[in-house]
Amino acid sequence: MAHQAASATTTYPKPRTCPFSVDPEYAQLRAEQPVVQVQTPGGSTAWLVTRHDLVRQVLSDPRFSSDRRSPGFPRLAENQQSVLQGLPPSLIGMNPPEHTRARRAVLGEFTVRRIDSLRPRIQQIVDDCIDAMLAGPRPVDLVSALALPVPSLVICELLGVPYDDHEFFQTRSSKLVHRSTPFDERLRASRELRSYLDELVSVKERELPDDLLGRQARKQRDAGEADHETLVSTAVLLLLAGHETTANMISLGTLALLENPEHWAAIAADPAKTLPAIEELLRYFSIVEGATSRVALEDVELGGVLVREGEGVMALVSAANHDPEVFERPDELDIDRGARHHVAFGFGPHQCLGQNLARAELQIVFDTLVRRIPDLRPAVPVAEVPVKSEATVFGLYELPVTW
Ligand code: HEM
Repeated sequence: MAHQAASATTTYPKPRTCPFSVDPEYAQLRAEQPVVQVQTPGGSTAWLVTRHDLVRQVLSDPRFSSDRRSPGFPRLAENQQSVLQGLPPSLIGMNPPEHTRARRAVLGEFTVRRIDSLRPRIQQIVDDCIDAMLAGPRPVDLVSALALPVPSLVICELLGVPYDDHEFFQTRSSKLVHRSTPFDERLRASRELRSYLDELVSVKERELPDDLLGRQARKQRDAGEADHETLVSTAVLLLLAGHETTANMISLGTLALLENPEHWAAIAADPAKTLPAIEELLRYFSIVEGATSRVALEDVELGGVLVREGEGVMALVSAANHDPEVFERPDELDIDRGARHHVAFGFGPHQCLGQNLARAELQIVFDTLVRRIPDLRPAVPVAEVPVKSEATVFGLYELPVTW
């Protein structure tokens, strides 16, 4: 087993400049060095993993920890760990058995059946946004008119967070997902978001309303296990994860369908095609790059390389989802390929808790768009659509559309 010295001078993950391609360099790394030591944008060294089987191995092996406060955890932004010091970890940063318990506590809120019961309300939110689009001037920015408000309204209602405060938490969360945000600003954004939710959780603990946070507070109280700080961490995570990610998939997915009119027409003609198309869009874009990192709790052999205890690992789902051993012609968007074994939602115990919700939102948005605005089209050439090249969740800043 080789223990490779840190040698690379380029940093990874690479900025994404084109909405429709992940860096071609990953293909070469995957073929030649699927586990390679690299520099991270935050100035640490970590192992970059690019092969589908090895990414799944990292994400399902309990010898790799999710504790973001650990010194070896790959840093995607400067001083990333300092922002987290002193805060209790949220679900995404826990390890078993703590993680198993905490995840089980909220799992019931995200089952297929539970999410299905939210569908009529999601449909109404989507219709309201589209009514407003149709009534307003053209072109319109699809990100601010639809992609951001839909998941944001849905997660606010689910959690019991007042949507009127959306500007407050959207500006904070956007600072947190941008690698280029200066440390001071990142720290301030993180503290402000936490203190906002800290206050809100205190209200839920007193009033125990019938929303996710109220139900969690009640459950904790009934079990005699009140844990305010952990509930605040859960609230921060769900609010952030609940709107940033899905919003980016709505805008990127819409752009991809508009640029491939045969796919748009296929969904319009047969709604049974929408869910398989969503799986393919999730695979194709693989928007989450930073979250699927880990740190080794002991020495682990990974793809013929020795990863030592304390070293960081970045399991790159975008590279895994373009592995030609698993997906034929991986750089082609093919909505009929049956892409369910993609890892865009991660893999193993931390696999995305909100994936059923994300799928339902995407399905309702795309089905409603093809039905209600069948002649929708981008109002600018793709090259002019501004992309979030430096964000830990890839997406579009704006998508001007017309019809
Ligand atoms: C975890 C992607 C939407 C809540 C994850 C992970 C990925 C991911 C890759 C795994 C992180 C890891 O391995 O450490 C996505 C994508 C989404 C999406 C691509 C949209 C298309 C959502 C939504 C919610 C959500 C809508 C909440 C309502 C979470 C939570 C975790 C998670 C709580 C942590 C689970 C755990 O650690 O046990 N997501 N997500 N996500 N996601 Fe999502």
